Amino acid sequence: MELQSNITYMPRIGDKAPDFEAMTTIGRIRFSDYAKDKWLILFSHPADFTPVCTTEMSGFAKRKSEFTALNTELMGLSIDSVHAHLGWVDNVRKNTGVYFDFPIIADIDMKVAKLYGMLQPNESETAAVRAVFFIDPRKTIRLIMYYPLNVGRNMDEILRALEALQISDKHKVAMPLDWKRGEKVIVPPPRTLEEMENRLQEKDLELVDFYLAKTSLN
Ligand code: BEZ
Repeated sequence: MELQSNITYMPRIGDKAPDFEAMTTIGRIRFSDYAKDKWLILFSHPADFTPVCTTEMSGFAKRKSEFTALNTELMGLSIDSVHAHLGWVDNVRKNTGVYFDFPIIADIDMKVAKLYGMLQPNESETAAVRAVFFIDPRKTIRLIMYYPLNVGRNMDEILRALEALQISDKHKVAMPLDWKRGEKVIVPPPRTLEEMENRLQEKDLELVDFYLAKTSLN
């Protein structure tokens, strides 16, 4: 297989979220000044006034209170002008009553899309893919999702993954397959023989073996 010479920078999990200044539907912002001490979901959509994007943006707007309850702000982005954004926000409100009550970046020069690897030219040279960046209060990227142009995202999964990250941080645990709020979580495996022997004697854990043990947080 030939190595591609056109590989561009892609932010990765664990990286500091790249800083930028941009025009948005709430005015000009500096990213590093926004959502201080909060989590941030930075997400892109391919284009205003398109059907899948309208369902996704409406999904974010309808469930904004659930993000707020998780100390999380939302910020959208597409390679459209601020006038197009305003027209679309107004159009969707008139048609459905749903209001996009969060900033949407007007990334007309593609600066932010390129900075975040949202422009993936083999999918589209002019529209951002459907990216979701989960950024913690220290502005570290903690999880990244990329979806193509023709498949909408899953809001339940975005909220589930956000909550999983926060609970994992708070309790120093890991989340098993399909974990949901209220379900058991995985405790860190032992790192020494002594810890392993102790783990095998634990009565309060759901123990499959020394390396796979679950506990309830309730
Ligand atoms: C949509 O949101 O429906 C869409 C946008 C760009 C390309 C394909 C679909």
